[in-house]
Amino acid sequence: MVLLDGKKTSQEIKNELKLAVDAIRQQGGKIPHLAAVLVGNDGASETYVASKVKSCEEVGFGSTLIRLDANISENELLQTIERLNKDPEVDGFIVQLPLPKHISENKVIESIAPEKDVDGFHPINIGRMAKNLPAYIPATPYGILQMLERYNIETSGKHCVVIGRSNIVGSPMSILMARNTKIGNCTVTLCHSKTQNLEEFTKKADIVIVALGKPEFLTANMVKEGAVIIDVGITRVEDSSKKSGYRIVGDVCFDEVSQKASFITPVPGGVGLMTVTSLMQNTLLAAQKRVYQ
Ligand code: GUN
Repeated sequence: MVLLDGKKTSQEIKNELKLAVDAIRQQGGKIPHLAAVLVGNDGASETYVASKVKSCEEVGFGSTLIRLDANISENELLQTIERLNKDPEVDGFIVQLPLPKHISENKVIESIAPEKDVDGFHPINIGRMAKNLPAYIPATPYGILQMLERYNIETSGKHCVVIGRSNIVGSPMSILMARNTKIGNCTVTLCHSKTQNLEEFTKKADIVIVALGKPEFLTANMVKEGAVIIDVGITRVEDSSKKSGYRIVGDVCFDEVSQKASFITPVPGGVGLMTVTSLMQNTLLAAQKRVYQ
């Protein structure tokens, strides 16, 4: 079994990004700048946004964090987005999800200029991705593709089962794995909460990508010997033995599934670290105008 090391792979990519920033600086070009909008103070969102800002610092990007009160009106948020759309200093920005219930996520996402939508959530970017046109690929799926690529995992002709159909991970992942691209060309089955006899699908899968947010959901009896296992889960589970009071648990029962897997991502230290790095890569693409000329 080979551990798909997100820490090592994301560090390699960050080193490449640092070199790209150095080259831009030497040529007197504009340093990439990412802005993040955080509405309210959800604990997990705070952690994610902080790690995005920290990663910007690490690779030498500029960053701006815009904090808005949980009670802000939808209109005020839309005005903030409009400002960022027009700000020439900001190459790309994200609005951290989830948003408070009184704000429409769809309306917010659709108000982001597609050329600055480094999360790749705008329908134009999703459509371009599906058509295999230049697009920002959502950060978690992009990170998974790069992990598969850098570990030379063959995907062509394989059966890939994706569990979970979220807009952020499962749905784009299923599209990407079926595309006619180097990492792609899979026969894809997208399973979700209404799938019957889930293990009939997972047992036949060469690659299983689990993104449903249920701790230790995928067990050894559900997978075939030699399968590639990608665990997207990051659930906080109470643990009084930890200083923070919780530990992070994936969607895969790692101890038992790792004994059957050919490749597997750990949690933590797997997909999560790749997600932030992929967002940095999208920000570089935005600054270099390589997706939208
Ligand atoms: N919430 C959970 N994952 C993400 C993400 O990748 N981007 C944004 N904007 N919000 C999220």
